[in-house]
Amino acid sequence: MVAVAAAVVVGAGAAAVASNAAAAASPDGADALIALRGVTKSYGEGGTAFQALKGVDLDILAGDFVAVMGPSGSGKSTTMNILGCLDVPSGGTFLFRGYQVETLNRDQRALLRRRYLGFVFQGFNLLSRTTALENVELPLLYRGDEKKARRELSMAALEKVGLDRWWDHTPAELSGGQQQRVAIARAIVTQPDVLLADEPTGNLDSERSVEIMELLTDLNRGGITVLMVTHEPDMAAFARTVIHFKDGLVERIERNHHQGQPVEGGA
Ligand SMILES: Nc1ncnc2c1ncn2[C@@H]1O[C@H](COP(=O)(O)OP(=O)(O)OP(=O)(O)O)[C@@H](O)[C@H]1O
Ligand SMILES: [Mg+2]
Repeated sequence: MVAVAAAVVVGAGAAAVASNAAAAASPDGADALIALRGVTKSYGEGGTAFQALKGVDLDILAGDFVAVMGPSGSGKSTTMNILGCLDVPSGGTFLFRGYQVETLNRDQRALLRRRYLGFVFQGFNLLSRTTALENVELPLLYRGDEKKARRELSMAALEKVGLDRWWDHTPAELSGGQQQRVAIARAIVTQPDVLLADEPTGNLDSERSVEIMELLTDLNRGGITVLMVTHEPDMAAFARTVIHFKDGLVERIERNHHQGQPVEGGA
């Protein structure tokens, strides 16, 4: 079971980040749910080392809906992986709910991840021979919930994404959009503060993508902080804050002002 759950978590492969520096952040990041200060990330060593992040500063406020954009290789997934506690920075500081994450050991980071974070990936990363319900139950199994509680919470999560009637279908019996909904149900079943999504609509057509964005918008309205990487401006338009990465740095941050978006949320 451990191996299975680990595969789900590690399935990330790539990720990204976000924040809301548009709302003036305090110098020490104390007001932010997530704060990065001078975060660097190098891959490799010595002369062949590659610096993927060159000193990222970000603040993400609780309740924000953030889209992360930028050219391929600009460091979006690297940042997401750090924010998701899947990877650690080479330098700089990462504050999450007041924890200085780079000082935590692997087990402590895993606890933080399981308690507060949910992940959604481009490729859905569902277990193929397993029903939607069983896929959604995995994080609960991993944290030791009893069967009855697992069933109830997982059915509630499937209902939230509009798939409760499909609970006994395997991924092969579901469309891409439905598979991503199952993956979102799995990500929110533990009621995380933050939902991290790295190109969640990357494998979907535009109609299905919009449905996923509407679902993320609903979840955000329910109070969850959403950070999503996308290459598509149409999808980024659903977010309230758009962070543009370039060459391993935050290039600029935009605020979207559109109707119907909540001003506040409580993560
Ligand atoms: N494990 C790794 N080892 C070596 N280099 C890596 C590793 N992961 C990422 N990189 C490099 O770091 C840089 C940033 O990668 P990252 O995956 O963060 O980009 P991205 O902005 O998510 O791009 P894309 O839009 O293509 O997903 C790239 O040049 C990439 O090749
Ligand atoms: Mg990426």
